[in-house]
Amino acid sequence: MARRVAMVNNKGGVGKTTSTVRVAEGLAKAGKRVLVIDLDPQGNASQMLGWDFDPAEKQPTISQAIKADREGAARDVIQPIGWECDYADRITLAPARLTLENRMSEAGIAGAWRRLEKALEGVDDALDYTLIDCPPSLFHLTQLGLAAAHDAVIVTEADIYAIDAAKRVRDFITAKGPKDLANPTLSLRGVIINAFNEQTVRQSEQRDSVRRIFGDLVWDPIVKFREALATGNNNAIPLTESRFSESRATYELLTQTFLKEIPLP
Ligand SMILES: Nc1ncnc2c1ncn2[C@@H]1O[C@H](COP(=O)(O)OP(=O)(O)OP(=O)(O)O)[C@@H](O)[C@H]1O
Ligand SMILES: [Mg+2]
Repeated sequence: MARRVAMVNNKGGVGKTTSTVRVAEGLAKAGKRVLVIDLDPQGNASQMLGWDFDPAEKQPTISQAIKADREGAARDVIQPIGWECDYADRITLAPARLTLENRMSEAGIAGAWRRLEKALEGVDDALDYTLIDCPPSLFHLTQLGLAAAHDAVIVTEADIYAIDAAKRVRDFITAKGPKDLANPTLSLRGVIINAFNEQTVRQSEQRDSVRRIFGDLVWDPIVKFREALATGNNNAIPLTESRFSESRATYELLTQTFLKEIPLP
């Protein structure tokens, strides 16, 4: 079975999707086979990976696989990504769009928390990693992701609200989650600091605060705020061009940390 890693924070816009997609890219470049599950009705990971949503077509999404409540249902929704580069075929996608919101109404159904895990049963056996891009909440969709995951990685900015949200996630996973999520082996493996602006004293202080709070869980390198990266994200392209070289190098190093902290058996 692939190692399943949920990328989380209880704060929006901190770079969960960017980290999921760019680490997936790094892993694919390193020869790993990766499935990205878009678990956010905003569908940003799907968009960033160049998935072409056509409202006129009945394209399958992760929403159907969860709704199916059937072992292996995710097999029917996994698709190639839209990038053109030599490692693109090592990344596949279970895409999402707004219809994923409909799964929220199932939160009160007994056992519904296990539906993603069920849908993935036997589906990612031949892969190395499954990365799950969670929405900025700790409610049903994220709980589906955490129940299906072996490991969790928090993505945060050096900002007080993002850090407070990261602490809520840590407490949810470590103190409360294993019991309430019925996933006793879920393990918090790392904290990525994203969109760091080295020119502000405030962010430097907040970075130090993240290190104080999370200690060895904080991954190196810190990902700096780079307009080029945002452009690459918005254009839904891989970081192959020279204008992305700084961010590309950062994610290559971050991928090495990922592989060290979340090794394959
Ligand atoms: N290091 C960075 N430098 C510059 N821009 C960044 C960086 N990381 C993320 N961004 C940009 O910031 C915006 C938010 O990032 P992203 O969508 O990854 O956050 P998120 O945590 O997934 O948000 P949400 O909570 O809405 O799902 C995007 O436009 C993205 O391209
Ligand atoms: Mg996102």
